[in-house]
Amino acid sequence: MRFEGKVLFATGGGSGLAAAVSRRFAAEGGRVAVVDLDGDRASAVAGELDGSVGLAANVADEESVSAAVRAARERLGRIDCVFNAAGHADFGPIEDWSLERWNLMMSVHAGGTFLVCKHVLPHLREQGGGSIVNVASIAALVAQPNNAPYGAAKGAILSFSRQLALDVGPTIRVNVVAPGRVRTGMTTPLYTARGGGSYEKGAAMSAQLNVQKRIGEPEEIAAPVCFLLSDEASFITGTVIVPDGGETAI
Ligand SMILES: NC(=O)c1ccc[n+]([C@@H]2O[C@H](COP(=O)([O-])OP(=O)(O)OC[C@H]3O[C@@H](n4cnc5c(N)ncnc54)[C@H](O)[C@@H]3O)[C@@H](O)[C@H]2O)c1
Repeated sequence: MRFEGKVLFATGGGSGLAAAVSRRFAAEGGRVAVVDLDGDRASAVAGELDGSVGLAANVADEESVSAAVRAARERLGRIDCVFNAAGHADFGPIEDWSLERWNLMMSVHAGGTFLVCKHVLPHLREQGGGSIVNVASIAALVAQPNNAPYGAAKGAILSFSRQLALDVGPTIRVNVVAPGRVRTGMTTPLYTARGGGSYEKGAAMSAQLNVQKRIGEPEEIAAPVCFLLSDEASFITGTVIVPDGGETAI
């Protein structure tokens, strides 16, 4: 029960990694503000978890983020932990990218992470501490075909988090998780398309790129994220954990 009495603010919580983190956080005694662009999905996940709330918000919009943080604080009484996972996949040859498409990538991933951190920090400071985990990707660490804007946004999250850890320490910790390939709402259509309509085939092709020769499950990312959010990681800040089945090792 590492999170007894604690509250998590989880963006992108209506699906995938942040839904898994929300479920594990609640299973270990915490309550969660499940935040997502899709308010129905956020409420559905929060509805499974005792004392939690679902909130609709767009992380790329400052008013929306500020209102969600206020609502979480009012309805749950406090915010101790933050998981920034809202995001979308988009890739292709750089010549095909418009500035608008690039700006959306940067404003959701890097901008959203910045805005949520900015608006939760006063609450974490007031409570004397807290733990933030931001989601990057192995695309922040290694090159992948046709993935430069996504890699740039994830690289920004990695650097921002390292810098922020210095500014908000010693009581507030900031870390990054940089996952490899994981089965979520974001990746299922991509692997299905890669496999010519078969998820299993596409996933098996992509799985050849890592040591463990399989795609990860969201719970396998929730485990290291919840470790970083918990007091067990009390001497860890400004760094990154890479749950990728060994993809960046080869
Ligand atoms: N799944 C993977 O293999 C993988 C690997 C590395 C990194 N990531 C990153 O993990 C994070 C979570 O992805 P996932 O795989 O769980 O995907 P997902 O699609 O299952 O969940 C992402 C959620 O974010 C929400 N969202 C999108 N834009 C938003 C916005 N502007 N404001 C609020 N919510 C928004 C979506 O509605 C969705 O519910 C993303 O940042 C993604 O880039 C995923």
